[in-house]
Amino acid sequence: MEWKNEKIIAFRSALIDWYEENKRILPWRENTDAYRIWVSEIMLQQTKVDTVMPYFERFMSWFPTMKDFAEAPEERILKVWEGLGYYSRVRNLQAAMKTVVTEMGGVVPNDLEGILALKGVGPYTAGAVLSIAYEKPEPAVDGNVMRVISRILEIDDDIMKQKTRKKFEAALYPLIDPEKPGEFNQALMEIGALVCTPKKPMCLVCPLQDFCEAHKVGKEESYPVKVKKTKVKRIFLSSAIVKIGEDKYIIEQRPETGLLANLWQFPTVDLAENNEAMKLAFLQKYGIELQMESEPITHVKHIFSHLIWEVDVFVAQAIHTQTTELKTKTVTKAEMEHLAFPVPYQKMWQAFLKEETIQ
Ligand code: ADE
Ligand code: SF4
Repeated sequence: MEWKNEKIIAFRSALIDWYEENKRILPWRENTDAYRIWVSEIMLQQTKVDTVMPYFERFMSWFPTMKDFAEAPEERILKVWEGLGYYSRVRNLQAAMKTVVTEMGGVVPNDLEGILALKGVGPYTAGAVLSIAYEKPEPAVDGNVMRVISRILEIDDDIMKQKTRKKFEAALYPLIDPEKPGEFNQALMEIGALVCTPKKPMCLVCPLQDFCEAHKVGKEESYPVKVKKTKVKRIFLSSAIVKIGEDKYIIEQRPETGLLANLWQFPTVDLAENNEAMKLAFLQKYGIELQMESEPITHVKHIFSHLIWEVDVFVAQAIHTQTTELKTKTVTKAEMEHLAFPVPYQKMWQAFLKEETIQ
């Protein structure tokens, strides 16, 4: 369905006028510096605005310039990201920014081809950075934008499919305001976040109501079309917070590749039939003989994008250790503060500290 030129112009002004009146004050909207925009868009990809805000502020105070970030040691970049999840985002971001600093004089490319060649930069990030930082008329299609546009144009392609994004981009190219592409894109994101919500969109106050096909027929909630994925795999584990001596704990660094690569954790084995089998598993994997309470102090459930962890957490004393090939070390509570732990392990540690103060 083609829109006439007047309709397109009316759509742009309805959208942008609303945005200028209603946009939230967010830290990455203070200016349009490409470094800041890029960092914010990477953070915002799988994480909500409210969660991102303090992370973004801290990131900018630790790494005020792209060069500061590009040159930071891995420990620091993992620590600044600790809790945000999807840690490959921060590694890719650093790899890409290293390239920009060393090969491009610190200037983020201002064209699609150049920016897409950088690690971790996909079509969404490319469109967001180019439009917001450089005012290039490129679409930035994320989940929010697909929801809004699928409703306005009644697009019923499955948004879980990779190729559907292209269809939305094609629909958006003629609509983007060539004068204010950055505001146009952010306005669509903002409508998606504040008005055109997944459930019960607020059509009565929506500036795009007159343009919205789904609203005309009362079918807002039938869009976007999303075909459910097959169910995620569940993994059952036992973790032990192992004390040796007064203030020393055994921790282990995860492998260099794969899920949560290089982050730290407490010794962890697959869930065993009973406590004896579990102790044996710890002995075999880590070379530590444990003395532990028979009951777990807590159970931690953590949902990743593609799997679920269910972890029983035990507290133990090491009665005997021998070195194995694994990357374990012993640290004090204070030393632990400087290392990056995945969220499920942070929850375990909090449960342990709570337990400790009760006793
Ligand atoms: N989500 C993704 N990018 C965003 C932005 N620039 N502002 C608000 N929410 C966003
Ligand atoms: Fe979304 Fe309703 Fe606005 Fe259409 S009218 S864009 S469904 S909030």
